[in-house]
Amino acid sequence: MQIRAIIFDLDGVLTDTAHYHFQAWQALAHDLSIPFTEQDNEQLKGVDRLGSLRWILQKVGRTLSEAEETRLMQQKNEHYLKLIEHMGTKDLFPGVQSLFTELKQLNIKIGLASASKNAGMVVERLGIAAQFDFIADANYVKNSKPDPEVFLLAAKGLGVTPEYCIGVEDAVAGIEAINRAGMLAIGIGDKELLSDALIVYPSIDALNLADLQAL
Ligand code: BG6
Ligand code: MG
Repeated sequence: MQIRAIIFDLDGVLTDTAHYHFQAWQALAHDLSIPFTEQDNEQLKGVDRLGSLRWILQKVGRTLSEAEETRLMQQKNEHYLKLIEHMGTKDLFPGVQSLFTELKQLNIKIGLASASKNAGMVVERLGIAAQFDFIADANYVKNSKPDPEVFLLAAKGLGVTPEYCIGVEDAVAGIEAINRAGMLAIGIGDKELLSDALIVYPSIDALNLADLQAL
């Protein structure tokens, strides 16, 4: 395959923020007396803030007013921001910087497609913001993953058609979004869980560009 762009998810792919999102959602669910396990969280990876809250509420058949939803989302986000307060360049996953350098050398564009409204701030903290050729995140799209919108927006911003793009994701919803965008899906994490990805690597460090070019 001729690769012209690689579009990365952020949380759980470039850094370990997926874990902090989980912690913050679990604390909120606990406050609401709703059980919330790590397995539940797999369904929420890649899903935006409101979608995640509603998913948790529907577990017990609850619906809330818009004002109450807003308050709870704010509470979760404040907790999340506290959990990532200490984050910095040391939190970039191993292998990311060398991969980005290799992509630049090969003239392959680097995009971001994140469901998080905090994505811009997190990539700044990680010290990689300037390396993206285009950043698409939850602030600029209407439809959350598994809808392909955020990946398509990233491709458009990069000026590359989907057939020349690879998407990299740790979430089931994210892999579906990439496939629906007509891009090639690479998973990071568990092979069984991300069974709709073409290749799954245990971590981004293991991603091998030559493998992808040979596809
Ligand atoms: C996704 C994460 O990237 O962003 C989810 O996988 C998270 O766990 C979602 O809930 C929304 O993030 P934020 O920062 O906008 O609340
Ligand atoms: Mg993710």
